[in-house]
Amino acid sequence: MSTTEVIAGTPDYTMQTYKRWPIEIVSGRGSTVTDSDGRTYIDLVAGIAVASVGHAHPKVTEAIADQAARLVHVSNLYGTHAHLLLAERLACLSPDMLSFFVNSGAEAIECALKLARKWGGPDKSRVVAAAGAFHGRTFGALAATGQPAKQTPFAPMLPGFSHVPFGDPDALEAAMGADVAAVILEPIQGEAGVIVPPHDYLGAAREMCDSWGALLILDEIQTGLGRTGRWFAHQHDGVIPDVMCLAKALAAGLPMGVCLARSEIAAAFSLGDHGTTFGGGPVQSAAALAVLNIIESEGLVERSRLVGGRVASQLRAKLPAGAIVRGRGLMLGIEWPHPVAREFACVALERGVLVNDATPNVIRLTPPLVISDDEIDAAVEVLVEVGDEVAAA
Ligand SMILES: Cc1ncc(COP(=O)(O)O)c(C=O)c1O
Repeated sequence: MSTTEVIAGTPDYTMQTYKRWPIEIVSGRGSTVTDSDGRTYIDLVAGIAVASVGHAHPKVTEAIADQAARLVHVSNLYGTHAHLLLAERLACLSPDMLSFFVNSGAEAIECALKLARKWGGPDKSRVVAAAGAFHGRTFGALAATGQPAKQTPFAPMLPGFSHVPFGDPDALEAAMGADVAAVILEPIQGEAGVIVPPHDYLGAAREMCDSWGALLILDEIQTGLGRTGRWFAHQHDGVIPDVMCLAKALAAGLPMGVCLARSEIAAAFSLGDHGTTFGGGPVQSAAALAVLNIIESEGLVERSRLVGGRVASQLRAKLPAGAIVRGRGLMLGIEWPHPVAREFACVALERGVLVNDATPNVIRLTPPLVISDDEIDAAVEVLVEVGDEVAAA
């Protein structure tokens, strides 16, 4: 039994699958979090693109508390006002799409894959995904994930999945066929190190799906809800998916995801085809409604675009030669020529800024969209300082 001490004095009886930083975060407010020693950090991780409206936003706290005081759970055997309102709201943001609410990103992907299989039937069951993609850790989502290191220990994978190089329309075309039920893509690959495909890639994928009669499933779990400077990242390319998965920022940190599908595709599901005990519960739905209202009323989609553009320019101008800055809105990656990301994240943490080492070479920045100009400027100063030191070492 492993009982390592990640936090001083507290043995850790959890399964050892995470390399945790040795701090205990006890509170958060806006774009900062505070640890048990009273030290405050500027949070450029935001729970991995989750706390988009910031930590402890008063309107989210109020929505959760109000709903929790009235009703926490009834199951999907009954309708609740909050979840119906949320589905209506999402249908306004993504016209003609129906929602299936779940508890995580991986579960939203499972729903999308099951829907594609049911829609395609036995003769149309293949799924084409991208190398490097990350879609989650459950078996369907893991089969779609294009990272052998995450799959191999759990082989054999679910059959019927193939992977093509991301961003290469010719490779995608070569993998298509009449037996393809769906192509699944992240508009920007997040876990792979913030990889932005060429501008015409999603459009080409859309055309191929149309000509082969396959569904285009877009995994907007990380990129959606304003993160890239549009409500959904596919809007940068003017592409409309058949199925879209959201999670992460949706309920401000309460576990919630949603699989949205065009109504004629969603009609492939019959009564009893899919289900969940907790999905779409009233508390997380109330939180999600508050999140969508905040994103709209505080202009966070536009803010993500403007602040993200400014930060990217500053980093490009000030980071040492060799560092490549890429991304859209407030989803940014800094790629280093050497595997220094862990060390970078460690030194940044010591200097009071949290960043994520998405890969050994790439630092990922996904701050709250509400981050203030002063906070982001202070954080950029630290990143540049740390970048100089890491590059010189
Ligand atoms: C693009 C993408 N898809 C799916 C997932 C899986 O989401 P979850 O961890 O909520 O299951 C993630 C999580 O990082 C993700 O970034």
